[in-house]
Amino acid sequence: MGYAIWAKLASLCHATKLNPCLIAAQQLAKMRRKVSLLIAALAAPLFGQTYFPAPPSPLDNPPSAAKELLGMALFWEEQLSHADTVSCGTCHSFRTGGGDGRLAVHPGIDGLLGTADDIRGSRGVLRRNGPSAFAVDAAMGVAQQVTRRKAPSVINAGYSTMLFYDGRARSLEELALVPLLNHVEMGFIGRTEADLVQKVQQSRPLALAANVPQRLQTFIQGQSYATLFAQAFGSGGITGTRIANALASYVRTLNSDQSKYDHYLAGQVALSAEEARGLFLFERSGANSTSAAACSQCHGDISPTSHSAGPTFENLTPYGTPQQHNNFHNTGVRPIAEDAGRSQGTFKVPLLRNVALRAPFMHNGSLLDLVAVLDFYSRGGDFHQNQAPEVQPIQLTVSERTALLSFLNTLTDPRVQNELPPFDRPLLQSERNVSATIYGTSMTSGALVSVRLMAEGPAFLGKPAFVIGVAGIEPFQPAFLLLDVAGNPAGSTINGLNCWLGLTPALAPIFAGLSLTTANLVLSIPNQPLLVGSTLYAQWVVADSRASTGLVTSDALALVILP
Ligand code: HEC
Ligand code: HEC
Repeated sequence: MGYAIWAKLASLCHATKLNPCLIAAQQLAKMRRKVSLLIAALAAPLFGQTYFPAPPSPLDNPPSAAKELLGMALFWEEQLSHADTVSCGTCHSFRTGGGDGRLAVHPGIDGLLGTADDIRGSRGVLRRNGPSAFAVDAAMGVAQQVTRRKAPSVINAGYSTMLFYDGRARSLEELALVPLLNHVEMGFIGRTEADLVQKVQQSRPLALAANVPQRLQTFIQGQSYATLFAQAFGSGGITGTRIANALASYVRTLNSDQSKYDHYLAGQVALSAEEARGLFLFERSGANSTSAAACSQCHGDISPTSHSAGPTFENLTPYGTPQQHNNFHNTGVRPIAEDAGRSQGTFKVPLLRNVALRAPFMHNGSLLDLVAVLDFYSRGGDFHQNQAPEVQPIQLTVSERTALLSFLNTLTDPRVQNELPPFDRPLLQSERNVSATIYGTSMTSGALVSVRLMAEGPAFLGKPAFVIGVAGIEPFQPAFLLLDVAGNPAGSTINGLNCWLGLTPALAPIFAGLSLTTANLVLSIPNQPLLVGSTLYAQWVVADSRASTGLVTSDALALVILP
């Protein structure tokens, strides 16, 4: 077949005198499309939820196809974040098992990076004191804030009645608005439901996304969110509750029960000898024995009953008290003082399906791979205050670790790993290109602080407010933003000031007022298609009587205008 295609290509090139590489690329793309359609068609009968029962929905939010599709659009909608940079799916991506594979580190309570209390969390947004007032974050400075816990998986979360690592949300409906209003994840300090609703109203559905799956394209069909909400809820109106209901309905479709282990539970396939030994070790009770791991005492979500009851689990610990919910345990990852979890260092037991896709592990992401997790359990955890009695040194041998590892690898659902329905999804703007980049270096002010430019997000045509801020200045210093159509990445020095702009005749200084701790300038991007692809350069100059130059300059911004 390969030969036939190349022969055809050669004759085509000859006939049309077109660039053969271009044609080859087009042919390959066509072939790939055909193959993926074929795979999708073959796999289609598997997409249904064959093993788990459907997760329960609250009576006032019954499932419907339109609501689920609206929820899907909202889940992947970067415009739900105030800065147009973060969607739910940014931190909960399927390729990484429903968690976050991007590396972002919070310095922890000691405020220092590179120490044992660091947290591998999720990158959110720059800190803002209001919609258009950047602020310096105590932990992250002028960089994007990072969550203080690792993002757990959204997959199979529909079966859970206590959500978050501390169980503080009782339903997906209750949970969904939390990240949207949170100033670290998607919002700004003081963001309200009304702000959110206004943002949704202003947004064209998935305007920033690419490769929108066909089922979602068919649903959206160029319509506005107002129309889509009316379609999903049977009457007009966008509200916070409806946003939460649609998101929750979508998350309830993200059910993963097609791993090799699931097919094994259903009697469809056999485990290899090594995988079966891993399962045996995982289930073996008697945690003190050197040959037993007894993981299933807490991780019951993958028990055979999950096919009848769903992947929920509450174990019966001998030490449970009314305050201590049985699905929360202190395994001894970090001292209680760093994060008490639900109480006394107890954290929700994570669901293990797709765990192999989800590194790093534990609530603080401190264990980088599954080998590190097995080492951790083998030595009986690290911190023993209020530690669960099931976690004991079990001295796993090398071959026991290998067996457990191959068992944990059977829990991966290929639909999750390959992002096939229901785990298909659009490509995010932030995964394709970054419109705002900061370059150059900043000067130090008379108060010995770096004068730093702050900006984030895509600058697309018609965007009402793109905010450019400057941090590190003192109250009542006059601040000017210089705008230019050319940059000068190598930089030049003029009268002791660093200049990162091309200094073309188009250079325009804009007075941003007298600063408090930051100054901010709000640009609205004109709806002028000619601007697409052009780059705007900007740099701050601040009057500073204590600086020897009388003025200080910031680093600079290159802003590509997107369609
Ligand atoms: C900036 C990253 C980030 C964004 C954006 C984000 N999340 Fe999360 N998500 C997290 C983190 C971190 C946690 C754990 C928080 C905790 O336990 O205190 C979490 C927890 C969850 C959980 C709980 C899972 C469980 O088993 O307990 C669900 C469900 C969830 N998020 C859904 C969403 C939805 C829906 C959105 C969009 C509205 C969203 N998330 C946006 C980072 C994020
Ligand atoms: C006492 C109950 C308990 C026992 C026993 C237990 N676990 Fe856990 N496991 C937990 C809890 C709770 C967490 C989350 C801890 C945290 O985030 O700090 C966890 C986390 C994990 C994770 C990380 C999941 C993620 O998404 O971050 C893996 C993998 C894991 N356990 C595997 C095992 C294996 C393998 C064993 C047996 C050797 C085992 N567990 C024994 C309660 C337990």
